[in-house]
Amino acid sequence: MSKSAKFIAIAAAATIAFAVAPALSQGKKKSGLGRVALPEEIAAWDTDVRPDGAGLPPGKGSVKEGEALFQEQCAACHGEFGEGAGRWPVLAGGQGSLKSEGPEKTVGSFWPYASTTFDYIRRAMPFGNAQSLTPDQVYALTAYVLQLNDLVKEDFVLSRENFASVKLPNEKNFYDDDREVSEKHFWNKKPCMTNCKVEVKVTGHARVLDVTPDSKTGPKVD
Ligand code: HEC
Repeated sequence: MSKSAKFIAIAAAATIAFAVAPALSQGKKKSGLGRVALPEEIAAWDTDVRPDGAGLPPGKGSVKEGEALFQEQCAACHGEFGEGAGRWPVLAGGQGSLKSEGPEKTVGSFWPYASTTFDYIRRAMPFGNAQSLTPDQVYALTAYVLQLNDLVKEDFVLSRENFASVKLPNEKNFYDDDREVSEKHFWNKKPCMTNCKVEVKVTGHARVLDVTPDSKTGPKVD
């Protein structure tokens, strides 16, 4: 079974096991479906990493090791320095561009935490061969992407122990949704639904960011 097929099978088993549990607790008849998820199966799912580093696997990796891996497994799409090949996503630069007409959202300019980067690479990259990297490789690649954004030095070694010390510049611009307070004046108790004579003002325009090129135009992965 391929890795992703196995993952789906485990996901289905875990979902069924979780779905059956409430029925049992209410004293209903057993449906005979599924089984309790094994600790290994839950561990395979439970890979999220929190900003304070909770959830990180043991391990470490240097910028240098990350650079070599990046050239092998990532540069075909993201460019040697994270500048993006063709229309594949840019991973570095863009600092200070967020309020401009053409904001460039990268790990360095936009993302809130180093843990977001670690989690994303571990979960989804390399595109087409996700979850093939060891924890040490994910540490090394995260370190290299951070270095491309000038957030750590070239001799830096990222590990579970020093992870929480790495701060991303845009962290402070992520905050809890405060619209209930900050936008209260926009809200009417009874919104008008018919024959409304409300003046409409355009206050902004959405910009379409298409980061995933279609498969015909991008480089091939084995
Ligand atoms: C075949 C092309 C390809 C390869 C190879 C690849 N990526 Fe990606 N990467 C993508 C695409 C496409 C996205 C955007 C996916 C989406 O948004 O749905 C992405 C997104 C990312 C992002 C998030 C960017 C953002 O700002 O949203 C990171 C970080 C990343 N890749 C790191 C890596 C690393 C590290 C490797 C090597 C281990 C790698 N990628 C290999 C295609 C690739």
